[in-house]
Amino acid sequence: MMSNIATHRPLLSLFHFLLVVVLLVIVLPAAAAAHEEETCEPGDTPVGRFQQYLRFNTAHPNPNYRGPVSFLASIAASLSLQIQTLELAPGKPTLLLSWQGSDPSLPSLLFNSHLDSVPVEPSKWSHPPFSATRSPDGRIFARGAQDDKCIGIQYLEAIRNLKENHPHFSPLRSLHLSFVPDEEVGGFDGMAKFVESPEFKALNVGFLLDEGQASVGEEFRVFYADRAPWELVIKAAGDPGHASRMYDNSAMENLMKSVEVISRFRESQFDVVKAGKASNSEVISVNPVYVKAGIPSPPNGFVMNMQPSEAEAGFDLRMPPTTDPELMMQKIAQEWAPAARNMTFKVIQKMLFHYSCITMISFLCSHYYWLEMPMFIHCSLCVIIKKGPLRDFMGRPLITATNDSNPWWSIFKQAIEAAGGKLSKPEMLASTSDARFLRRLGIPALGFSPMTNTPILLHEHDECLKDTVFLRGIEVYEHIIRALTSFEEVESV
Ligand SMILES: *[C@@H]1O[C@H](CO)[C@@H](O)[C@H](O)[C@H]1NC(C)=O
Ligand SMILES: *[C@@H]1O[C@H](CO)[C@@H](O)[C@H](O)[C@H]1NC(C)=O
Ligand SMILES: [Zn+2]
Repeated sequence: MMSNIATHRPLLSLFHFLLVVVLLVIVLPAAAAAHEEETCEPGDTPVGRFQQYLRFNTAHPNPNYRGPVSFLASIAASLSLQIQTLELAPGKPTLLLSWQGSDPSLPSLLFNSHLDSVPVEPSKWSHPPFSATRSPDGRIFARGAQDDKCIGIQYLEAIRNLKENHPHFSPLRSLHLSFVPDEEVGGFDGMAKFVESPEFKALNVGFLLDEGQASVGEEFRVFYADRAPWELVIKAAGDPGHASRMYDNSAMENLMKSVEVISRFRESQFDVVKAGKASNSEVISVNPVYVKAGIPSPPNGFVMNMQPSEAEAGFDLRMPPTTDPELMMQKIAQEWAPAARNMTFKVIQKMLFHYSCITMISFLCSHYYWLEMPMFIHCSLCVIIKKGPLRDFMGRPLITATNDSNPWWSIFKQAIEAAGGKLSKPEMLASTSDARFLRRLGIPALGFSPMTNTPILLHEHDECLKDTVFLRGIEVYEHIIRALTSFEEVESV
């Protein structure tokens, strides 16, 4: 862009009059028609490409994957990157782009982003969520603006700038970009399958950068671990009885005792946060998400003179990787859902199951729940769903070191500083990202999305990102790519 303008400058005077006429004809009516808001961006700019990517509706439950994959592949082709489209699950492509390094024997770098987004409630948005409208103050509104289509385009634009502005630069290590499906629904048909593929193994990945989160302050945030989510369902059984009678060990009494014990544990963890001794993401969170009990009495009520024989409650449990999973299991078995209170719980390591298999089991559960006891007993198969492990294949906590023991960390940090930025204290992510699949393989991985002075709007209405913040992120990645791909040392990382 810059060089084009420079070349044409001598011609400007010749076409001055014509240009003014053309500008008046085009710009004035366009500005009026757009009500001071730009919905149509010239395609051939970084912001324009960001807007085009945002306009694909990739929200669940029916994300459009084909459109953005061919759009991104066409950008990659214009940058002479190698392009592979992997169909690891039907209809769910993973796009893999590569900039080959001069020494392909060195471990490579992988920069990941996901193609999909969480759903939207369009009526709650001030601009249509897939319009990528840019407001007069430069904010670009779209689902995915922060989570995480920004980084996908920034990776590509940083490569473009390095290729165009630094023609003598060539990476020593290879840099790969992956665009994976289904992160927002657990990654089981996305990153989980990708890391198992021969194409992934061939990459010999030494270090991963994946999505992080916006920072409201001046410093960039960086994430070195994710919390592991478990879904916990506790079912209590007891003798049914007349509602007027007091007796021990009713299902409701047993369930409520557990709810009390779990609430006390929740408070103890939350107190640590409130006292400022740990952040929200460094403690174990357990939050009740549903309670199901009672004998329905159509149309909407419940039988009021009857104590039910079954009662259940669901909890969302998130653990930092430093948690001992065995101790947690013991706590659940002995304190939260003890057999002494007629409670059952079971664990499913969701990683080991195909998604549709889990769906099938839950379907059986809900389907047979009220029908007959034998099926109900089978159903205790799906009571805890461990959606992520806490340890890597060597049994180590899923944590990426953020000190000098990890050379990638040092180079990454220096690159941020060289770009004029500063990192805040490394954090654990309160939720999860695809990075956990690589940490499981023992590959160091950091979560990083370069957005400073930006409200955290992921998964919220009116998700948006300022154009200047987006463009600054491209510069930051230029520094990161140069530094990481030039890193010579061959250490066992
Ligand atoms: C457990 O449930 C069974 C069947 O409903 C009941 O007979 C028994 O008394 C209950 N025991 C306890 C300890 O709640
Ligand atoms: C670096 O961090 C890791 C992980 O947090 C820790 O186990 C290790 O002891 C640290 N090493 C040094 C040299 O500080
Ligand atoms: Zn995300």
